[in-house]
Amino acid sequence: FQREAAPLPWTGRKVLITAGPTVEPIDAVRFVSNYSSGKMGYALAEAALSRGAEVTLVSGPVSLPAPMGATVVPVKTARDMLAACEEAFDSADVFIASAAVADFRPAETAKEKLKKGTEGQEGLEHVRFVENPDILATMGTRKRPGQIVVGFAAETSDIERYGRQKLASKHADMIVANQVGEGKGFGTDDNQALLITESGSEALPLMAKTRLADAILDKIEQI
Ligand code: CTP
Ligand code: CA
Repeated sequence: FQREAAPLPWTGRKVLITAGPTVEPIDAVRFVSNYSSGKMGYALAEAALSRGAEVTLVSGPVSLPAPMGATVVPVKTARDMLAACEEAFDSADVFIASAAVADFRPAETAKEKLKKGTEGQEGLEHVRFVENPDILATMGTRKRPGQIVVGFAAETSDIERYGRQKLASKHADMIVANQVGEGKGFGTDDNQALLITESGSEALPLMAKTRLADAILDKIEQI
């Protein structure tokens, strides 16, 4: 005789998460990227899965194991990440942008390796950058009633002010703002965050990213 297990709280909910860095090619062998490890996004995926959600994880290159039960969509560039999110966003109940998207990409990708000592416009010193699309802002603008959109804000100063600006400019329901730089944020196992919503800000203590993931999902439940 087996008693049926109670359904988990997020059963039937679809959660779309971006994680990791994006990688923007300069030429055949070089790229521009950042120090993101993907740990925060993967912790969010694990936390949502353990609450019973269906999880799609759009991930830049990281060296982390795929969370069991998640649909992982591997991407490299910001434009690939945007395309994958556009595909999955409409059926998602919750979108969480935890990826460290490269803000700029080389305007062109050289097919050949760029050489040293090149006079003229072809050398590495002449690489021109153009701005990448803002994935969170794009999804925030597309949001329909009932969908919840959550972003992060990586700041080196004025965390609350910049975080609140991002809440408004990206049409997010919550911004998880945190201090980066000087050994904080990128690549570490823990994180100290400020949860910013329309109704106020909640400062959380320094905690493991796995625990912060649960605190973020708790706040999403409240919203
Ligand atoms: N983000 C995004 N697409 C981008 C840039 C950022 O989806 N092209 C998302 C990040 O995933 C994060 C939020 O926007 O959830 C804020 O990222 P952040 O780098 O802090 O802010 P930016 O808007 O890029 O501004 P800046 O880096 O100049 O502070
Ligand atoms: Ca940025």
